[in-house]
Amino acid sequence: MLNISRPRRNRKTDAVRRLVRESNLSTSDLIAPLFVKAGTNLREPIQSMPGVFRLSVDELVKEVKELHALGIPCVSLFPAIEEKLKDAKATESFNPNGLYQIAIKEIKNAVPDMLVMTDVALDPYSSDGHDGLVDPKTGEILNDQTLEVLAKMSLVQAMSGSDILGPSDMMDGRIGFIRDALDDEGFTNTSIMSYAAKYASAYYGPFRDALNSAPKKGDKKTYQMDYANVREALREAYLDEAEGADILMVKPGLPYLDVIKELRDNTTLPIAAYNVSGEYAMVKAAAMNGWLDYDKTVIETLWAFKRAGSDMILTYFAKDAARLLNK
Ligand code: PBG
Repeated sequence: MLNISRPRRNRKTDAVRRLVRESNLSTSDLIAPLFVKAGTNLREPIQSMPGVFRLSVDELVKEVKELHALGIPCVSLFPAIEEKLKDAKATESFNPNGLYQIAIKEIKNAVPDMLVMTDVALDPYSSDGHDGLVDPKTGEILNDQTLEVLAKMSLVQAMSGSDILGPSDMMDGRIGFIRDALDDEGFTNTSIMSYAAKYASAYYGPFRDALNSAPKKGDKKTYQMDYANVREALREAYLDEAEGADILMVKPGLPYLDVIKELRDNTTLPIAAYNVSGEYAMVKAAAMNGWLDYDKTVIETLWAFKRAGSDMILTYFAKDAARLLNK
């Protein structure tokens, strides 16, 4: 008799495999990103993200009801702002009656249980297409002046009913600055999910198409991180934790599973992964060509985030994944 170790015994049937499974994926882990646009009765396809739409507020509310019925606990909202409302100071970002604020209120009115996460960064509202204010002479992204705008945005979003603010701008000191602004106005229950380790990435391409928010000049490398680095991600994570973040995010997701693991091993905070637009587009394109099994690839992809140590996943696959998981 061969006396060998037989790991295959733990894989012999589906029941055994379920017993020994080390990680789990459920609908409760999913956050669905959604795009809102002015208008009514609008479901505008996004070319580079087949199956994802820019929705008018009425359609958005319908979509949120469906996601809620599927058991998805949270949506993350992004605004497609009309070009004529964009300016260098991103003024529309703190308009209490702007499209974004209306959308937050309408969702919370229609489906109070659904958590609404909102985006804090200037790019959807900025005529420069940057996440921060741009010095008109030098082109430099102005950190400390940007913090004031981020705090104003945060307050109007909190007032509109946002449950979780998601600062995605990567300015230094923003988490503490926003936390103080919220607490001073009594919004001590509004959470912050910081985009702690957000890399300057080509994978955001389709998202920028969706919002027409690509930088007009230069790139985002003076604020988003260099993809060569992982210790720097820990530094960002520790700062955001110390400044009061409730949840830390890593973004993009799939090419950065090592960063997720690094954060998981070094902080006690919940970790979120953002499975971004380019990651969605890759799988979608291959599946549409018949080169990949869509359903199986989606579940395996999302599971990888859980195995790496994410507690939750922002993903454009959320609705499809929920349908598959509920089967
Ligand atoms: C910008 C922002 C981006 C994404 C979310 N917030 C793009 C960027 O930084 O240029 C990307 C999300 C995705 O690609 O799905 N604040």
